[in-house]
Amino acid sequence: MSDGAGLVVATAAHAPAMAAIHAASYPPRERWGADAMALQLGLPGAFGLIDPQGGLILARQIADEAEILTLAVTPGLRCQGRGGRLLSAAIAEATLRGAAAMFLEVSESNNAAKQLYRNHGFVTVGFRRHYYPDGSNADVMRRPLTYGAAAGA
Ligand SMILES: CC(C)(COP(=O)(O)OP(=O)(O)OC[C@H]1O[C@@H](n2cnc3c(N)ncnc32)[C@H](O)[C@@H]1OP(=O)(O)O)[C@@H](O)C(=O)NCCC(=O)NCCS
Repeated sequence: MSDGAGLVVATAAHAPAMAAIHAASYPPRERWGADAMALQLGLPGAFGLIDPQGGLILARQIADEAEILTLAVTPGLRCQGRGGRLLSAAIAEATLRGAAAMFLEVSESNNAAKQLYRNHGFVTVGFRRHYYPDGSNADVMRRPLTYGAAAGA
């Protein structure tokens, strides 16, 4: 099933393809395999969208809060707006599901991702020390969600 913007709504059947995108996008210790993808997709409130060319986003909505679980675009396809399209679609979906705010963690040194999130209305609201397996720190970012302005920055 497509969302109308060329993105495909993820199901457990997509888990192997999603794991391949993730493996191409993240360093070894941060990769999610097919089992992890299927597990995350099966969490209450979870949803995923896939760019069939090589991108994915997984998010989760519980009551009035949503969270980005992972976002990836394969290296050869970056800086073409694909990450932004996936993020906008997840923002829109979370808003439709009733979330009033979206949160995410991002490595404090991940300038590309932090710029992308800022472009889409996220601001840094917190900090998690030693959040990642390599011991690096994470920024916590938040974006309010407003019904009727879901997909914009
Ligand atoms: C983060 C990621 C998903 C972005 O995907 P993408 O398809 O390149 O995203 P877009 O093309 O929509 O936008 C990228 C933005 O980052 C900016 N950018 C790219 N490299 C940058 C850098 N080194 N420093 C600052 N900004 C950078 C681009 O200029 C663009 O902003 P713009 O629209 O103002 O020009 C991709 O880089 C990725 O998969 N990275 C590895 C996994 C990851 O870090 N995921 C996020 C974890 S929280």
